[in-house]
Amino acid sequence: AHSARVTFTGHGVKALPASQEEALLRVAQEALHNALRHSGADHVDVTLDRRDGGAVLRVTDDGSGFDPQAVRRAGRHLGLVSMRDRASGAGGTLTVESAPGKGTTIEMEVPGG
Ligand SMILES: Nc1ncnc2c1ncn2[C@@H]1O[C@H](COP(=O)(O)OP(=O)(O)OP(=O)(O)O)[C@@H](O)[C@H]1O
Ligand SMILES: [Mg+2]
Repeated sequence: AHSARVTFTGHGVKALPASQEEALLRVAQEALHNALRHSGADHVDVTLDRRDGGAVLRVTDDGSGFDPQAVRRAGRHLGLVSMRDRASGAGGTLTVESAPGKGTTIEMEVPGG
């Protein structure tokens, strides 16, 4: 359905509270969906790593990138809003790093149990 090469790597993450695992999964799904639908990337890399007692999820693409502030102002897109809500609902944080021509990295950190 798409031409991007998608990789996943995970290191050292132990079981987390179910609510955090579900939030990580939902954010990974939406970030991956966005990367495949909007970015035209050749590569999308998904990583899940242990940090302190919790975990960090990263979804990085080498596609078109976008201006996150302009999208926030436009206000009618639900995906980025729902990722933020999921992250904060799980006691974590979401960071969106993107710029036109520079690709996109979505990072979510959760604290663990
Ligand atoms: N990885 C990405 N690469 C390029 N542009 C992106 C990426 N992720 C998001 N965008 C841009 O940000 C906009 C907002 O994304 P968001 O997920 O909030 O909404 P959407 O995908 O358009 O709709 P939906 O509500 O179905 O998720 C997108 O329409 C797109 O222009
Ligand atoms: Mg979306």
